[in-house]
Amino acid sequence: MAGQMIIAGLDLGSHSIKCVIGVHHDDGQVDIIGRGAHPSNGFQHGVVSNKADAVKSVKAAVAEASLMADVDIKEVFLSVSTRHMQSFNTHGMARILGDSVDSDDVHAVIDMAMAIKLPPETEVFHVVPQDYIVDHRAGIANPLGIKGVRLEVQGHLVTGQLARIEAIEAVCRHAKLNVVDAVYGPLASAETLLTNHAKDMGVILIDMGADTTEIAVFEGGGIVHAATLAIGGDSITQDIKDLLGTPLVEAEHLKRVYGCAERSLIMKDEEITLPGVGGRNQETVKRSYLCEIIEARAEEILHFVADELEQAGCTARYNGGVILTGGCANLPGLVTLTKRILGIDDAIVGTPNGIQGLVDVVKKPRYSTATGLVLCGAQLKHLQWFSNRQIRLKRRGARRTLRFWQRA
Ligand SMILES: Nc1ncnc2c1ncn2[C@@H]1O[C@H](COP(=O)(O)OP(=O)(O)OP(=O)(O)O)[C@@H](O)[C@H]1O
Ligand SMILES: [Mg+2]
Repeated sequence: MAGQMIIAGLDLGSHSIKCVIGVHHDDGQVDIIGRGAHPSNGFQHGVVSNKADAVKSVKAAVAEASLMADVDIKEVFLSVSTRHMQSFNTHGMARILGDSVDSDDVHAVIDMAMAIKLPPETEVFHVVPQDYIVDHRAGIANPLGIKGVRLEVQGHLVTGQLARIEAIEAVCRHAKLNVVDAVYGPLASAETLLTNHAKDMGVILIDMGADTTEIAVFEGGGIVHAATLAIGGDSITQDIKDLLGTPLVEAEHLKRVYGCAERSLIMKDEEITLPGVGGRNQETVKRSYLCEIIEARAEEILHFVADELEQAGCTARYNGGVILTGGCANLPGLVTLTKRILGIDDAIVGTPNGIQGLVDVVKKPRYSTATGLVLCGAQLKHLQWFSNRQIRLKRRGARRTLRFWQRA
C-alpha cells in the first residue's frame, strides 16, 4: 500500500499472547485495524516450556488479528519482559568529530554509555537517551546539527538475559515471523499510555499481568527506572483456589465476576454459591471473604512495588500520578488500593493514546503493550538514523539489534 505501512505488535504474556495490527500512514497517523489473543500455552513464567505449543499459540493470536485486519503478517515487533530485566542510569562522553553533531557522533556517545561491565549472559537491551549535553550545555533532546567539541549523554540502560530472549525469538521464527525489533514491555506500554505531559510531570506506570508486575517510572520527560517483579494476578487466583478449595478455573471466574481489591468498597455482601467439586455438595461463601483474600494478595504485590520504588530512589512528587494497566487493572478497587499503598493521590487505569481506527478493540488494559509496540514500530521506521545504527552494530557483530529511545 503506497504511503502506508502495516505494523504488528506481539506481546507474549504469561497468561495470553496478544497481537495488535496497525497501519502507519505517511502523515504519522496510526490506525488500529486488528487484534487477536490466545492463551499462552507452551510458555511458563514468561519462559518457553514447550516449543511446539508455544509456536501454535503465537500463530493462533497472529492469525486472529490478521483475519480481522485482512492482512498477512510476516514481521512483528516483539515485547520482552523476563524477570531478569534490570535497568540503571548511565553516562557517555565522546569528541564531536566534525563542526557539529552528526549521527555518527550520537552513535559514538551511546556506545560509550553502553560500555559497562555486565554479569555473564547479560546484554544491554535498550539505551534510552534522556539528556544530551554539548560543551556543558545540558537539556538537549536531539543534539543533531548542534555545533560543539564535546558530546555527552545521560541515559538509561535496560539489560536482560540473552538466552531467554533468544528462545522467545526462536518461537517467532518457527511461527514464520521475522522479529524486526524487541522492546522491553513497560517501555512499549508507555508509548501509548503516557502522554509527554505526564512524563514531564513525573508518572509511575504499573502493568499488573498474570505472572509479573512491571514498573516504569518517568521524571522530567524521561525514564528513570524500570523493573519486572515476579508476581502478578495469577497469585491472587491461586490464593482463591487454595483457600476456597475450588478448581483454578472457578477461582479465576470468581475473581473476575465478584472480585474487588478493596473490601470496603463492596456494596452488597452477598453469598456466592460455589459448585460442588468431586461429588461434594455445593457450598456458599461470603463475597467479603473472597475480597479479603484478593485484597491481601493485591496489597502484598503493591507493597513490593512500593519497596522497589523506594530502593530505586523514586521518591519524587509524581504529579502525573500512577497509571495502571495489564489484565489486573480490570479488578475493581485496585485503583483505590494503589493510592492507599503507594500513598499517591492520583491513580487511574490507563487508556491508549496516539491511535485511531478500531480504538475500541484495543482499549482493554491487557492490549496496551501490543498497542504500544505498534507505536514503537511507527516511530522506528520514521527515524532513519536509528535503523542506521542497527545496521552498524550488526556489521560489528553485535548479537542483537539495539533500539534508541528518543526523549520526547
Ligand atoms: N476482570 C478481571 N478481574 C480481575 N483480574 C483480571 C480480570 N481480567 C484479567 N485479569 C487478570 O489479569 C491477568 C492477565 O493479565 P495480562 O493479560 O495483562 O497478563 P499477561 O500479559 O499475559 O502476563 P504477564 O504480563 O505477567 O506476562 C490474569 O491474572 C487475570 O486473572
Ligand atoms: Mg503482560
